[in-house]
Amino acid sequence: MSEGQGILRAPKGLAGLSVADTKISKSGSDGSLVYRGYPISELAANATFEETAYLVLNGRLPTRGQLGEFSEGLASRARVDARVFAIMKGLGRRAHPIDVIRTAVSSLGSIDREEAPGDEEASIEAKMSVLAANSHRVPLGERPRLPRDERGFASNLLQMLTKREASDFERWVFERVLIFYMEHDLNASSFTVRVVASTLADPYAAASAGLSSLKGPLHGGANEAAMEMLLEVKDAANAGAYLDRKFREGKKLMGFGHRVYKAFDPRARLCKVYLKQMADESGDPRLYELCDAVEREMWEKKKIPPNLDYYAAPIFYLLGIEVPLYTPIFAASRIFGWMAHYNEQTEENKLIRPDSVYIGPSGLKYQPLGKRSG
Ligand code: ACO
Repeated sequence: MSEGQGILRAPKGLAGLSVADTKISKSGSDGSLVYRGYPISELAANATFEETAYLVLNGRLPTRGQLGEFSEGLASRARVDARVFAIMKGLGRRAHPIDVIRTAVSSLGSIDREEAPGDEEASIEAKMSVLAANSHRVPLGERPRLPRDERGFASNLLQMLTKREASDFERWVFERVLIFYMEHDLNASSFTVRVVASTLADPYAAASAGLSSLKGPLHGGANEAAMEMLLEVKDAANAGAYLDRKFREGKKLMGFGHRVYKAFDPRARLCKVYLKQMADESGDPRLYELCDAVEREMWEKKKIPPNLDYYAAPIFYLLGIEVPLYTPIFAASRIFGWMAHYNEQTEENKLIRPDSVYIGPSGLKYQPLGKRSG
């Protein structure tokens, strides 16, 4: 932080600058990550998605009764009004799934005002997974898939995404990835949500802004870009030459690097273990070996580790999920983190409104039309 013209100057990208106190989660450069005090490895080994969502939202793990009520609330609020599906369909086959969800969330804001006043946050949390699962197919003119699986949030989402019966192990892995995607302190989309919350706009406005931020390839969009890259590399033997070409072209490799984790991303490490187990179970090691080869080449050439998106993508691929649905899955889970940030921000609110240093020209004279040079 430096001073200029009487104001404090933040580092570019606000890197390394703390702009909020939070009790929700913390990632550390040593590869640590805690949600409400629980290490991510502890939650990955033991918790369900619903327990983790309750924890992130409420600051403590639920009792049996609280968990039942929370899970029941998610299931009972998941019904999406037909008008929302009609709006999604109207966006047409070229629509980007995140744009579809964002538009749906905006329209939900108006519809819920009639249908579920006062229940905004719980309504968006419950419906986001249905919107995400249908964000690709409904604009193609296909019928919406609805949650019908009794086995909980993760099973329901996976069922809507793939329409196939996954094994217990596959459902368990998918649930772990959702837990990893749920929350990550002041990532770009959660910060965006907090900025909108600080104006006291409603949760629909905050969630749709979060979705806009998530869309970019430097944030949530990286999981799709990482899978496309892996499909392009095709074979572990091509990894070195592929990376050399990308770097000669001045390109970044999606799914690698992180603002906080410079040595390793703990979520990516765990996902790599799950991917290996999936590969072993299927008897086809090729995708795992490809991922491992690209990771090793990247470390050798740049000393940059893979992030969650890099190892979530091949897991989704093996689960039979279409690539355009990868970032929507991120949104279906991250909505719980966003709402936790929305609440934390509004509970002790101060409008987020930074200053800037003006570096443009000044004192210019107005030139009438026709007297201006190009
Ligand atoms: N491929 C190649 N080089 C990279 C990569 C990458 N993926 N990531 C960082 N670098 C390089 C940069 O070019 C830069 O090099 P330089 O110092 O020679 O200019 C250096 O490493 C530092 O990188 P920055 O982009 O300045 O680091 P920052 O902390 O701002 O960026 C970010 C973090 C945006 C995630 C970056 O690593 C990136 O663009 N990665 C690819 C996108 C991605 O995977 N995003 C997902 C993030 S995790 C998530 O959302 C769940």
